[in-house]
Amino acid sequence: MFERADYLAAVKAIRSRTDFPAKVGVVLGSGLGGLADAVENAVSIPYAQIPKFPVSTVHGHAGELVIGTLEGSPVVVQRGRAHFYEGYTPQQVVFPVRVMHYLGVNTLILTNAAGGINTGYKVADVMLLNDHINFVGMSGSNPLMGPNDDSLGTRFPGMSQTYDRELRGYAWQAAQENDVPFHEGVYMCLSGPTFETPAEIRMIRMLGADAVGMSTVHEVIAARHAGMRVMAMSGITNECIDAIDTPLDTNHEEVLEAGKLLVPRMSAIIRGVLKRIAQAST
Ligand code: HPA
Repeated sequence: MFERADYLAAVKAIRSRTDFPAKVGVVLGSGLGGLADAVENAVSIPYAQIPKFPVSTVHGHAGELVIGTLEGSPVVVQRGRAHFYEGYTPQQVVFPVRVMHYLGVNTLILTNAAGGINTGYKVADVMLLNDHINFVGMSGSNPLMGPNDDSLGTRFPGMSQTYDRELRGYAWQAAQENDVPFHEGVYMCLSGPTFETPAEIRMIRMLGADAVGMSTVHEVIAARHAGMRVMAMSGITNECIDAIDTPLDTNHEEVLEAGKLLVPRMSAIIRGVLKRIAQAST
């Protein structure tokens, strides 16, 4: 459990490096860190230099905050994230989101790598989240469990308006402008680190999810709790295998490989969204 003082100590460490007033947070998932290189006038701060900041142990997840300007928007980019399956508590997973909140961030854009559940999705397509199923949350892993800080957000936050409609509109415009194969759908969050069995894949499909992954939902919940506007996208890195006794198996290498194709596509969308956010705020 963290207290407000823990978030403020992290903010202080960041402020000692830059007082740049970032307003938009961007969380880059597996293999997608490359976009952070495009940030202008960037100040990079390794997570290890920020007190209590969780450090990802997964290959493909560099750990640093990159603060600067992208497409006219003042951003703080989280290059690499910590996951529940690494052994971090849900509160640790969302620590960076809360630090961003105390830094003054009011809009959060998240990305992840996900398996395609919807049979219409192909590898390297992009899915914009319009809803989620917090499967891990239903079994007791919700980042808001424990004492509630009422100054941060309400005890029982509603989740029916989670993925901001205006930001989704910006994402669609940017996807069309850049010819990105784009879908809108429901993301299911599982704990991992095992990929799903074929029976689980068939179950997930029946339950109404279009993509499945091991991240994002905890952060989205913490961001909405703190009143941020949220947008999230999945890069579809693999088709989920829904039958036994095939030679196919899902692996992390194919996830990172598809990530290479997805970086330019998701980067183009994030840039388009940031440009529109900057235009709307002038
Ligand atoms: N399942 C769960 N998480 C994932 C997958 C998957 O197929 N691909 C990338 N992350």
